[in-house]
Amino acid sequence: MPLISVIGSGRVGTSTALQIAMRELGDIVLVDIIPGLPQGEALDLNHTCAILDLDVDVKGSNDYRDIAGSDIVVVTAGLTRKPDMTRLDLLLKNSEIIKDVSRHIREHAPKSKVIVVTNPLDVMTYVAYKTTGFESNRVMGFSGLLDIGRFRHLIHSRLGVSYKSIRSMVLGEHGDSMVLLPSHTYIGVEKLTSFMDEKTIAETVEATRKAGAEIIKLKGWSAHHAPGAGVSVMVSAIIKDMKAVIPTSALLDGHYGEKDVYAVVPCVLGANGVEKIIEIGLSDEELKKFKESIKVLKSAIEQVKLDKI
Ligand code: APR
Repeated sequence: MPLISVIGSGRVGTSTALQIAMRELGDIVLVDIIPGLPQGEALDLNHTCAILDLDVDVKGSNDYRDIAGSDIVVVTAGLTRKPDMTRLDLLLKNSEIIKDVSRHIREHAPKSKVIVVTNPLDVMTYVAYKTTGFESNRVMGFSGLLDIGRFRHLIHSRLGVSYKSIRSMVLGEHGDSMVLLPSHTYIGVEKLTSFMDEKTIAETVEATRKAGAEIIKLKGWSAHHAPGAGVSVMVSAIIKDMKAVIPTSALLDGHYGEKDVYAVVPCVLGANGVEKIIEIGLSDEELKKFKESIKVLKSAIEQVKLDKI
């Protein structure tokens, strides 16, 4: 049975563990710094497994030695932005947490693949890559599936078509500068542009960009069910060696003319993690937006580098 560790037993970590258990992808270790929290969540999840006949064992721990032998480590540890915190505060505080977690992963699960979920996503994934020292195919960031999930939801509710027939793609930062790609969005075999006029597409893209903030405004904290579902799709692609094309934050090394930066791009995920980065054709306008997004990410990486990785 594969072993999947989830670092951080808060909302995103426990939602992720639940989705992994529901799909029987492997046994699970939940880790957190708060004594009792991962152990309590593990007990609750084990009872869930018993009720649903899921043959999965969940262990809660405050000791990183328990992640030994993990095939995948999902990192959800970190702070969420408080009203009195600037984006830079969050960047530096979470960067310290990711460095700490990454050192433990390097020591106790040196052969694992790492999926980072902590925000600001692409920069935290870069920090995990640098700190673990793992090959770049083994360190990747979640979020593309979340952003296109939100986009697909809006298309589904506006056009009344099945989710199964809506395919889409996103590039760049998981954040304000994300580049959704209506030109690479298909309903069945036809482009979205055959079903929606330009103005409606622009409104749908904007609503997607604001979806995360809307959730926080409505319920008071950030999304966790959808991130958990999305991470389980990535875990499944790796564990089952699916070679599935999934928008993933990956290290660009000459791809799209960029280097030394993590950004969301279409990737083939399989047993070796990120097995390929796909370079898709972009219009001049899309390429310009992508380059602007990369600029945002590179300047955030510089802030973190100043703080020494
Ligand atoms: N090691 C392990 N766990 C840690 C550490 C650490 N160094 N620092 C913090 N944690 C734990 C906290 O104790 C808490 O239980 O991380 C957990 C975070 O949980 P929540 O506060 O519920 O936050 P959550 O909503 O799960 O979001 C976590 O995922 O999607 C992103 O933006 C989100 O960056 C945030 C992260």
